[in-house]
Amino acid sequence: VSPLRLGIAGLGTVGIGVVKIVQRHADLLAARSGRPVVITAVSARDRTKNRDADLSGYAWENDPVALAQRDDVDVFVELMGGHEGAAKNAMEAALSSGKDVVTANKALLAHHGQALAESAEALGRVIRFEAAVAGGIPVIKALTEGLAGNAIRRVMGVMNGTCNYILTRMESAGLPYETVFEEARALGYLEADPNLDVGGIDAGHKLAILAAIAFGTKVSFDAVQLEGIGKISIDDIRRADDMGYKIKLLGVAQITGRGLEQRMMPCLVPSSSPFGQLQGGTNMVLLEGDSVGQIVLRGAGAGEGPTASAVMGDVVDLARGLRMPTFGQPAATLAEPVAAVASAP
Ligand code: NAP
Ligand code: HSE
Repeated sequence: VSPLRLGIAGLGTVGIGVVKIVQRHADLLAARSGRPVVITAVSARDRTKNRDADLSGYAWENDPVALAQRDDVDVFVELMGGHEGAAKNAMEAALSSGKDVVTANKALLAHHGQALAESAEALGRVIRFEAAVAGGIPVIKALTEGLAGNAIRRVMGVMNGTCNYILTRMESAGLPYETVFEEARALGYLEADPNLDVGGIDAGHKLAILAAIAFGTKVSFDAVQLEGIGKISIDDIRRADDMGYKIKLLGVAQITGRGLEQRMMPCLVPSSSPFGQLQGGTNMVLLEGDSVGQIVLRGAGAGEGPTASAVMGDVVDLARGLRMPTFGQPAATLAEPVAAVASAP
């Protein structure tokens, strides 16, 4: 049986996590895939950097586009990040060179997912991106597979671990936002541009991707009503607590009389509710289907192991020959995204 050959662009937190899983679980992956899963080539900016994995058996490319075009790569695994530039160019090169793509890049998908998905479909290729939403939680698989027989009514969730860490730490330690923000920075939790986290943008990216899948529509990040956590004070948190509520950066996407409305903003949730009890960097997503009712998925939304776990789920699907596109099919459009109006979700 021919192996599935991966080219991995990006050897940071997630890329090295993927390398480790491929190396540690070669037998398990082969058994689950029905064929070996191997890495043939890798790429990152700095070849001399000391990385926490043995990369000696893999070809090295300085240019991710060259990696994407290699004949010995079947699946291009994009783990560089960024919504323009290298990641987008390399993904386009991979698709036009006949490769399927697996990515964790929520920013790129939120901004260009629609065009990339249409281009993939036209070229007969597939883009998979379970790791882009809620890290290790298989929420996209839940929507596309387990809940395939449901009309989805609502998608709701805490999808940015950094914001949840900041809010819960402010509350438990009684510390002001600015102090906890600096703690989060020291712990390495913040994105290179912290406003992606605390401005609600990263969580908004994830909500737009999930909503497109759930409601069979276009990825429309511009239509997400966004508000971050930067204005939440310790007094806000205390007052909410006195009334029996917690403040969470909560996203909601649902169909209203106006169309698909998407909001990501700080919300009051009852302290005793599952969302109210969500601590630290954990993510939680509630999916509501017309037949199943509500289900809740909870787990690690970031980090080397959890995010690489989601990437490998997609890789194994491709190795098995599961090649259904996840979104970007205009024929499946059920609802137009509209700009949300200001009101509590
Ligand atoms: P990271 O640690 O910053 O690693 C990024 C990697 O990409 C580095 O190895 C870097 O090379 C390489 N790279 C960046 N620009 C490049 C370029 N122009 N050409 C070649 N290589 C380039 O990032 P990460 O945390 O692993 O995240 C990767 C992706 O996963 C992002 O899209 C992120 O949003 C997504 N994601 C991350 C997490 C998480 O928990 N970290 C969770 C969910 C999704 P050097 O090492 O040489 O600098
Ligand atoms: N910055 C993101 C978070 C990383 O805190 O959730 C995972 O997407």
